[in-house]
Amino acid sequence: MEIVKKGFASDNWSGVCPEIMQTLSDINTGHVFAYGEGDEEVSQAAYKKFRNHFGRNIKTYFVYNGTAANVLGVGHIIKSYEAIVTAHTAHINEDECGAPEKFIGSKILEINSTNGKIVPDDVEPFLNSIGFQHHNQPKIISISQVTEMGTVYTPQEILALANYAHSNNMYLHMDGARISNAAVALGMDFKSFTTDVGVDVLSFGGTKNGLMFGEVVVFFNKQLALDFEYRRKQGMQLHSKMRFIAAQFTRYLSDDLWKMNASVANDMAMKLCAEIDKISVLKVSQKVEANGVFVLMPAELVPKLQEKYFFHVWKESPDIESDIPMKEVRLMCSWDTTEDDIDGFVDLIKKLVD
Ligand SMILES: Cc1ncc(COP(=O)(O)O)c(C=O)c1O
Repeated sequence: MEIVKKGFASDNWSGVCPEIMQTLSDINTGHVFAYGEGDEEVSQAAYKKFRNHFGRNIKTYFVYNGTAANVLGVGHIIKSYEAIVTAHTAHINEDECGAPEKFIGSKILEINSTNGKIVPDDVEPFLNSIGFQHHNQPKIISISQVTEMGTVYTPQEILALANYAHSNNMYLHMDGARISNAAVALGMDFKSFTTDVGVDVLSFGGTKNGLMFGEVVVFFNKQLALDFEYRRKQGMQLHSKMRFIAAQFTRYLSDDLWKMNASVANDMAMKLCAEIDKISVLKVSQKVEANGVFVLMPAELVPKLQEKYFFHVWKESPDIESDIPMKEVRLMCSWDTTEDDIDGFVDLIKKLVD
C-alpha cells in the first residue's frame, strides 16, 4: 500500500499515536455492554476523567466526529428560529457542508474576522434583531479554540464573550477540535478557559491530536444536557462499540498524553515559523500561537513544494500588495511532525528561491 507523503496538510492527516493504538488493542478483549449502557466501565472511567479535567458539574457524550459534536451540541440548545453568531472563518460556518443549517435549521450569522477571533462588539449589531418577529433571534455565540486561523483566545477574551452572551440571554459554544493545542499554547489546564470562564457547551476534539476517531460534547450545565442521548441517537452518532471511543479518551487524558502530543505540534509550528521568517520572499501572515502557520508565498513556489510536501492553499489571491502573484497557504503541524520534516521542507524552499 502506498502511504501518502508526509507534509503539512492538516493534523488529521497524521496517524494514530502509539499510546492510543496500544489502548485500542488492550481494550479489544471480551464482551461488554454496547452503546456505553448499563454502567459499562470503560465509558464510566472516561466520564470520570472528563470530570477530573473540567469539574463535577458536567455531562459528557461521545460522538464520532467534530462536525457532529458541533451540530448536535449547538443543535440541542437552540431552536430553528434562533441564530448562531460566529466568525466567518469558523468550521461550523465554512466547512460543514451546511450540516448546521440542515440538521439544526438555524441561520448562521457571520462576522468578518481577519484572525479568526470575535469580540462582543462584533456581536452587538445582531442584537438589534432581538424581539423583532421578522428576524432570527441570536442565541449562540460560537468560537473556535484554536481558531481556524491558528490563533488562541485568552481566558479573559472568552470570559468577555461568555458574560456578553449570558447578559443577552445567549449561550457560548466552543469548537475545541484543537483544544489541547490551545491549552498548551496558554500553558493552562482545560478548565481555566472553559468551565471557569462560562463556556456552556464544548466540542472536545481528539482526532487531530493522535486519536483514531471520536470527539466529545461536553455540557457545563446538566440542565442543558437534558435528553441529549436521544438527540445523539436520532443524529446517528451513538457509537455501538462505545468502549473504543471511551478508552481512547481515558488514555488521552491520562499521563498528560494530550499535552505531550500537542506540545510537539505547537513546538514544531514555532520552529517552522522561525525558519520561514528567515526567508525574505515568504511572510508569516497570522500570529503563530498553536500548531498552524499561515504563510504568504510566491504562487509559483506552491506546486513545486507540493510535489514533495502536501499542504493546502488558504487564499488563492490574498489581498496584499505585491509585484508578483502570491498565495496564502496553511501549514499544519501534528503530534508526529519532526524536526527533520521541518528542515527538509525549509531546505527545499531555500533551494527553490535561490
Ligand atoms: C475547527 C474545526 N472544528 C471541527 C472540525 C471537525 O471536523 P470533522 O467532522 O472532520 O471531525 C475540524 C476539522 O477539520 C476543525 O478544523
